[in-house]
Formats: sequence, C-alpha cells, structure tokens
Amino acid sequence: MPTLTGKHVLLGVTGGIAAYKSPDLVRRLRAQGAEVRVVLTPSAARFVTPLTFQAVSGHPVRDGLWDASAEASMSHIELARWADLVLVAPATAGFLARLAAGMADDLLTTLCLATGAPIVVAPAMNRLMWGNPATRDNVARLAARGVRLLGPGSGEQACGETGEGRMLEPQEIVAALALPGAEGPLAGRKVVVTAGPTREALDPVRYLTNRSSGKMGYAVAAAAARAGAEVALVSGPVDLPAPPGVRVVPADTAEAMRAAVQAELPGAALFVGAAAVADYRPAHPAAQKIKKKAGAMTLELVRNPDILAEVAASAARPFVVGFAAETNDVEANARLKLEAKKLDLIAANRVGADCGFDREDNALVALWADGRKDLGGGVKAELADRLIGLIVERMRASHQAQDS
Ligand code: C5P
Repeated sequence: MPTLTGKHVLLGVTGGIAAYKSPDLVRRLRAQGAEVRVVLTPSAARFVTPLTFQAVSGHPVRDGLWDASAEASMSHIELARWADLVLVAPATAGFLARLAAGMADDLLTTLCLATGAPIVVAPAMNRLMWGNPATRDNVARLAARGVRLLGPGSGEQACGETGEGRMLEPQEIVAALALPGAEGPLAGRKVVVTAGPTREALDPVRYLTNRSSGKMGYAVAAAAARAGAEVALVSGPVDLPAPPGVRVVPADTAEAMRAAVQAELPGAALFVGAAAVADYRPAHPAAQKIKKKAGAMTLELVRNPDILAEVAASAARPFVVGFAAETNDVEANARLKLEAKKLDLIAANRVGADCGFDREDNALVALWADGRKDLGGGVKAELADRLIGLIVERMRASHQAQDS
C-alpha cells in the first residue's frame, strides 16, 4: 500500500558522499506515490549530476537561485509553497549550520526559510564532525524549532572510520516518512512495546546493564505506528529519537518497566516485548557510593520480574510477542521460550560479537505453536515491517480460531 500517495516532496541534496544514495531515495519516494522535485546545492552537483536526478524524478532539477528560465516556470517561492514536505538527504554539517543560522545564501536554504511545510533532515558526515559541539548546538537548535532529524546511523564511514554519522538507508528514510495509515491493519488498536536495556542500581553512581541499543524495539514500535496503531513504547535508557506517532514512556529499571507496562496494558490488542530486561538486580543497592576494600567483593543478586511472561499470564491478555536473542541453537531455544512463557509468537535472532545488538541490521525467524516463518535479513526498519505484517496475520488467524 503506497504511503505517500499524492504528497509533494521537495528533496534537497547537499554535498556529501552519501549523495550517491539520493537517486535511489527519489525512486523509493516515487514508489510510495510521492511526487518529487529535487534541488541540489552546488557542491551536491559535484557528487551526482542534475541529469541523474532529472531522470529518476521525471522533472527538471534546480541547482541555483539565478536560473532565470527555471524561475520563470516555477519561482523559488512557488516551489516552497508547492512542497508538502521538505526532505534534505544527505544533510551535511555545513548545511545544518546554515539552516540553524537561518541563512538564505543558496536555493535550498532559501526554500527552507520560505516554506511552511515540515522540514526533515537526514544528516551524513564524519563521526567527529557529528560529535563536534558546534554541530551538536546546531542540531539542538533545529530540533527545538521542529525540524525533524532522521538518524544518522552508525557504522563504517566513507572516510574509513567507524562511528555515528552515516546517512540512514533510503528505505529507512522512506519508512520513517510514511504517515500512520488511518486505514492500516492496526488502525484503532493499541500496541504496547518494550525496548532497550534496563539499568539496575548497585549504588547511586553504578549500575548493571547490557548492550541493547533499543533499535529493534524502536523499529517495531515505528512499524506498528505505520500500520495505524496507537503505540506506547516503554523504553529503557537509549539514545534514540521517538519514532513518528509513537508515545515514549521512559522506564530505567526492570521494576519501573513492569509498572509502566501494567499501566499501559488495559485496552491493548498487542504486546511486543523487545526490551533486554536485566534478569537480575542487586539485592541491596547501597544508598551511598560503595567504597573499595582490599580483596574480592561478592554481589548478591535477586531475580527481576519476567515482564513478558507476566503479560502472557494476565487475565485479559493481548496477543503476546517476545524476542529471543540467542548465541546458539537459536530456534530450539526460542521454541522452548515460546512454550515456557506461553507466548503467541516469538522472533528469534542470533546475537554475538558480529550480529544482533547495537547494529542497523538483523535477521529474524518467527515461531509460533504450529508454524514458523523466516523473515530473512535486512535493516531493522524493513524487518520490523515484515514482523508486524506477520503478527497481523497471526492475530487474525487466532481470532478466527477463537470464533469458530
Ligand atoms: O528469557 P529471555 O530473557 O531470553 O526472554 C527474552 C524475552 O523476554 C524478550 O522478549 C524480553 O523482552 C522478555 N523479557 C521480559 N522480562 C524479563 C526478561 C525477558 O519481558 N525479565
């Protein structure tokens, strides 16, 4: 189902190496029904030619303020009014600085100042440029003004370094832009998702935690919202923006997460537990910082509540989906968990040094009482869409079974 049908998207492309992905972005936006007009900054035109964008968008491309014939056919003010959405991808550090300063020194910044449409930027830059306090300030100012940021993601960079600053993949950008569909398969249904790690205090300055980044749970929450659901995302401490249309409920510890889930559960049709809840917490968290002493130290840990199993055992239970992150015998261990926790479905993946946690991509197999489906691999946004699609199918099947 195309999600951007009839939308006028003005795509700004600025001069970063990630610009080589922008023609693919145009193609994907059009595949979702959007009409796309492209504006290049002069440095973007050094990476990818206007002709490429003209071919994929089906419209002439603008790359300057001073083109009299282009201005005569559609002036920059008309172009700014035409847009339902301004998307800048990639957005370089220099562009973000000029946007934050309110400059109008080229066509793209001028359009951004002149438009009433929402502005969405997908930053792409070297990790040190992204972490620089000047960029951090500019990003904070833009966010405070309502500019929406998509990413950046982290991973290997064109400069050979690894870290945060990579432009999100075109399919992730398109997925993030798609509006919650009022007619989507989960329209009118409430969905509760948990995501991220928990932190279990040892004392006021130390805690036990794990390597979960929250990305998979956030992707599932975003996919549920795209399917039309009202989504509450109970989230441990992560460094991720709230997905569009999703209400984030922060919860630091397993016990706080359990309380937040219990409060959100009434009326929910679906619960997805994607959080990496700590299985244990310190039995006696110290009120003051623990001082080191000679010799070894023993910590006493007690079990945390199993939030997922509790939801599955509750009286008015929603459809319950869990995740199983396994290092070995993935399917066999996941099936044991499906049965032990009395889940409706479990999504299993292998985790280890090279896969699973804190990555942009993943690979999932879904299991239920009498079936399985390999959801394949891919970026977490795409996988989450596939998982939500399967969950919708299984929810329908289980309702039919109950009704017959
Ligand atoms: O038993 P295990 O931790 O491997 O199970 C993983 C699944 O259970 C995940 O869906 C996770 O969100 C959920 N879980 C939970 N509360 C716990 C432990 C796990 O909700 N205390």
